[in-house]
Amino acid sequence: MERKEKKKVFIRTFGCQMNDVDSERLLARLEKAGFLPAERPENADILIVNTCSVRAHAEQRGLGYLCSLKHLKNSGRIFCLIGCTASLYGQELVEKYPFIDLVCSPGRLPEFPDLLAQAEKGSRVVATGEGGWPFLQDLPQLSDQVTASLYVTRGCSNFCSYCVVPFTRGRLVSRPKKEIVDEVKHLTEQGVREITLLGQNVNQYGADLPDGHSFVKLLCEVHEISGVSRLRFLTSHPKDVPRELLLAFRDLPKLYRHFHLPVQAGSSKILKAMGRGYDASDYLRLIDAVRSLVPEVTITSDVMVGFPLEEEEDFEQTLTLVERVRFHDLFVFKYSPRPGTAAARWGDPVSPEVKARRHRVILELQQSISRQYLEKLVGRQELVLVIRSSRRNRYLLGRTTTDLAVLFPGQRDLTGKVTPVEIVAAKPNLLLGSCSAGELTPDVFSSASA
Ligand code: SAH
Ligand code: SF4
Ligand code: F3S
Repeated sequence: MERKEKKKVFIRTFGCQMNDVDSERLLARLEKAGFLPAERPENADILIVNTCSVRAHAEQRGLGYLCSLKHLKNSGRIFCLIGCTASLYGQELVEKYPFIDLVCSPGRLPEFPDLLAQAEKGSRVVATGEGGWPFLQDLPQLSDQVTASLYVTRGCSNFCSYCVVPFTRGRLVSRPKKEIVDEVKHLTEQGVREITLLGQNVNQYGADLPDGHSFVKLLCEVHEISGVSRLRFLTSHPKDVPRELLLAFRDLPKLYRHFHLPVQAGSSKILKAMGRGYDASDYLRLIDAVRSLVPEVTITSDVMVGFPLEEEEDFEQTLTLVERVRFHDLFVFKYSPRPGTAAARWGDPVSPEVKARRHRVILELQQSISRQYLEKLVGRQELVLVIRSSRRNRYLLGRTTTDLAVLFPGQRDLTGKVTPVEIVAAKPNLLLGSCSAGELTPDVFSSASA
């Protein structure tokens, strides 16, 4: 589509990596259709907010941001709300927010340019549900980019009792293997070295395809692609982890030795009410199994506090599990009831004060575990993939084979390469290192802008 004067698009994204990839690809599609990206909302003709509804707080942030732009509304400017909040509330959004012109669920994004054309003609457009094929295939223009993420599945068919995702993104749909492999090859031909395979529960990859597909087979095939230096996947569900996946951590050298395995709770009673399909001892067996195969593996997880039936005793079981597993890092969320989910019928009986206390207690415990974990790495040599250089080009940011971030001094031309780095100090969530180019001390770090 040729336009006389190119219109500009601004996108702000909330939520998970799925939304990041959606936004990146939507912008790529719009650029192909003749639009230009805008750096700031004030300069844009089309304002798009990509939203998340996983918790009430995330939802409020997205909607609050869109409302904060309301003063920019004029007859020529189109306001679009896309993403999970769009799926969840659809028509209600255009009724409640008169300045919104276009509401579009993630599953309908491939139709976005046509929907936008309707909105530009003056219609108020609401597109929810799944539409046809839910994957955006358009890849962004890459410039010196070492990392890239791509979807292997969309949606989720698990229906954990607290979770809105199956309602906002629909049931599991797997992408054909050839499409994924071709996309990875294309990305590596443009210089990408680190690939992240994304799905809500990647282990179910292929469950909706003809027999013979499995996530581990896909992983092995992507691992074979010569341009790939490092590989990771997100997210796994503990009920669907086959032994082959644990062996992959041992046997696929390019796969980060990092397993993100959300446990959600340490109480089997709560896990049952969440509909997770495993109990605390199943989870611990899985952790022991992966550690016995790959002792250095870093394990991270998600837990929730304040689920409706969570009593003090249940919370203490979560603390005990966190102490026992000693995660490298942990994301802790306060439960919030989500419309349409099974758990919403139990209300929200745990008070905000109790949730806040449980949240704080668990974070403090985890912070001390994480600190001890990182401190143990000081003095070790790690093979680091350099992801990017810092703004002032004095430092490089890279990742160890266990997917930990390392900042160290070095030349920009190392970007995209793997280099040995000695760990000299540990900061929260960041290791400081030195390679032959020199040493980075903790006090230098405080003045460096990474
Ligand atoms: N597919 C991923 C999780 C996606 S949501 C998985 O199954 O692990 C990311 C995290 O948000 C979840 O792991 C959970 O800890 C948290 N979460 C999901 N729904 C929530 C809710 N209603 N309240 C609070 N946290 C929630
Ligand atoms: Fe939500 Fe459960 Fe699916 Fe994860 S596995 S997206 S928590 S329903
Ligand atoms: Fe949020 Fe949707 Fe991702 S609800 S966490 S943006 S799948």
